[in-house]
Amino acid sequence: MKAAIYTKYGSPEIIQIVETKKPAPQFNEILVNIEASSVTRADTMMRQGIPRLGRLFLGVFKPKNTALGTGFSGIVEAVGSDVKKFSIGDAVFGEKLFSNGSNADYLCISEDMIIELKPDAISHTQAAPVCDGFLTSYNFLKDIANIQQEHHILINGASGSLGSAAVQLAKLMGAKVTGICNAKNIDFVKTLGADDVIDYTKVNLNELSCKYDVIYDAVGKLSYQTAKKIISSDGIFMTPVLSIQILWQMLWNSKQVKFAATGMKKTKDLKQLFKDLVYFFGQNKLHTTIDRTYGLSDIAKAHQYLETGRKVGNVVIINL
Ligand SMILES: NC(=O)c1ccc[n+]([C@@H]2O[C@H](COP(=O)([O-])OP(=O)(O)OC[C@H]3O[C@@H](n4cnc5c(N)ncnc54)[C@H](OP(=O)(O)O)[C@@H]3O)[C@@H](O)[C@H]2O)c1
Repeated sequence: MKAAIYTKYGSPEIIQIVETKKPAPQFNEILVNIEASSVTRADTMMRQGIPRLGRLFLGVFKPKNTALGTGFSGIVEAVGSDVKKFSIGDAVFGEKLFSNGSNADYLCISEDMIIELKPDAISHTQAAPVCDGFLTSYNFLKDIANIQQEHHILINGASGSLGSAAVQLAKLMGAKVTGICNAKNIDFVKTLGADDVIDYTKVNLNELSCKYDVIYDAVGKLSYQTAKKIISSDGIFMTPVLSIQILWQMLWNSKQVKFAATGMKKTKDLKQLFKDLVYFFGQNKLHTTIDRTYGLSDIAKAHQYLETGRKVGNVVIINL
């Protein structure tokens, strides 16, 4: 089978497509014939080995795990002898977390990991990136911010994968949503359900008079210094993007400043969040936005596009 790998840290060109042995499922594993897989900002950062501190975990001089890709959607081709929840022919989707390997023709995954039956309401292409934007943002909105109906949330980077998911989720949870994006994406963010949209190229947030209960900086471009001027006294500022500044501010103001790496959450808790999302997608209450798709052989081009920082929603690899 074909798989995308990286054997050293570097630019998108270092990605290789190699012929490798098709995996065989262990007792509790499922073999998935992958139809579509995600390419995410986290993948591009792993490939570059940034932030450098992350190399303590990924491998100091070169990646310990050479496989690429986390989110996937496909068809169950074989199951291990102990598998109870899935059968051959099931359409499934999920997330490989740090074990990677979804940018390939096949993968094996334990049935106890992040994998569920794919609702008919979404295609494999729409399902593959759900665990990037939706699962991450749902963790922030539900488990970290505990979003309630009376909350007003400001979402920065509302046009990205995490931001576009957060706008929909916050509306679903009953909150009032203001999204921040570029002028060209205002209509898109409105169609996601945002009550108000701010153009970050024209509005200076320091001059806003409004106070928000929650500020979710989905793209890590806001400073806490700016955010704290427009946050209510018991409000929170949260971001999925780690930086020295955020770590420092969390040290001094752990009640108001929050960061979390969703992949580090206990699998059983992530699984519960994912199950909620599967239900919402099945009910047509959430929609994945696909910006571009690529074939596996063009995955380096997909990484290059992600690195522009301009994608709207998600980028997906489709296996032909
Ligand atoms: N902690 C976790 O568990 C976790 C999990 C997944 C991802 N992440 C991180 O989350 C971040 C977001 O990823 P993503 O895929 O959603 O988005 P992304 O690809 O990083 O961002 C793309 C979007 O951000 C917008 N944007 C760029 N600069 C902006 C600014 N100054 N203000 C507002 N919007 C701006 C762009 O729109 P314009 O071109 O119109 O400006 C574009 O639509 C990444 O850094 C990723 O590594 C963290």
